[in-house]
Amino acid sequence: MLVNVKEMMQKARDGKYAVGQFNINNLEWTKAILLTAEEQKSPVILGVSEGAGKYMCGFKTVADMVSAMIGDLGITVPVALHLDHGSYEGAKKAMDSGFSSIMFDGSHYDIDENIAKTKEIIDLCAERGLSVEAEVGAIGGEEDGVIGGGEVADPAECKTIADLGVDILAAGIGNIHGKYPANWAGLRFDVLEEINKATVGMPLVLHGGTGIPDDMVKKAISLGVCKINVNTECQLVFAEATRKYIEAGKDLEGKGFDPRKLLAPGFEAIKEKVKEKMELFGSVGKA
Ligand code: 13P
Repeated sequence: MLVNVKEMMQKARDGKYAVGQFNINNLEWTKAILLTAEEQKSPVILGVSEGAGKYMCGFKTVADMVSAMIGDLGITVPVALHLDHGSYEGAKKAMDSGFSSIMFDGSHYDIDENIAKTKEIIDLCAERGLSVEAEVGAIGGEEDGVIGGGEVADPAECKTIADLGVDILAAGIGNIHGKYPANWAGLRFDVLEEINKATVGMPLVLHGGTGIPDDMVKKAISLGVCKINVNTECQLVFAEATRKYIEAGKDLEGKGFDPRKLLAPGFEAIKEKVKEKMELFGSVGKA
């Protein structure tokens, strides 16, 4: 059964670790992440962007697939199905399709409109027992057509949005989606510290988990980050493993063209990457 993120986030905040949000793209991705979470006895959050939702036919297909998979695979660890960077309309659709958690990304609106729309989404989620993530200060880079300029959030605005009653808060602190450029200045821990102080006890979310050095990840967790989003890194290892398989000519040997064989190395690579992140985030054994 799917759960919202409230309890897993409170436990992470108290226990000073973070739960990974791993974005899914298809059945193999979902199965790899769920099996790894179960093996590692870790809570897990499956992230679905609006683009990935469309790719997988729609939110209903995704929610039904994830719920059925939890049953068929006998998954017992807490699993949340979370809309990633939802628009106002997309958030409503995901709520009605069976998602257990919603991110409403109003960071591109001015702060007053972000507040008004976030409040509405909070009320709708409260009626349904879903958790809500809001965002202040756009995350840089591009993800499925959502482009952010890499703003650094204003701690006072973070407090205003946190006080509306969101369950988790994403704040831009110099993080970006996708690979980090060689000249990246790193995370703004001074700002994270201020946000953590201003929002007292609010579980914070770090987007753009791909490529953030381990020591920065650990420091972010010590400053209130309880959820870390990873997407590109799983895509990179999947692509690399698949390329190796084909370059080695394995698809031409026997029945190596069978998708169950062709996609197996990528599947294993995702499992390995997710395990590595769960260990780094400290969520292993916390389910
Ligand atoms: P990366 O693709 O950089 O890992 O970011 C993922 C993310 O933040 C999803 O919202």
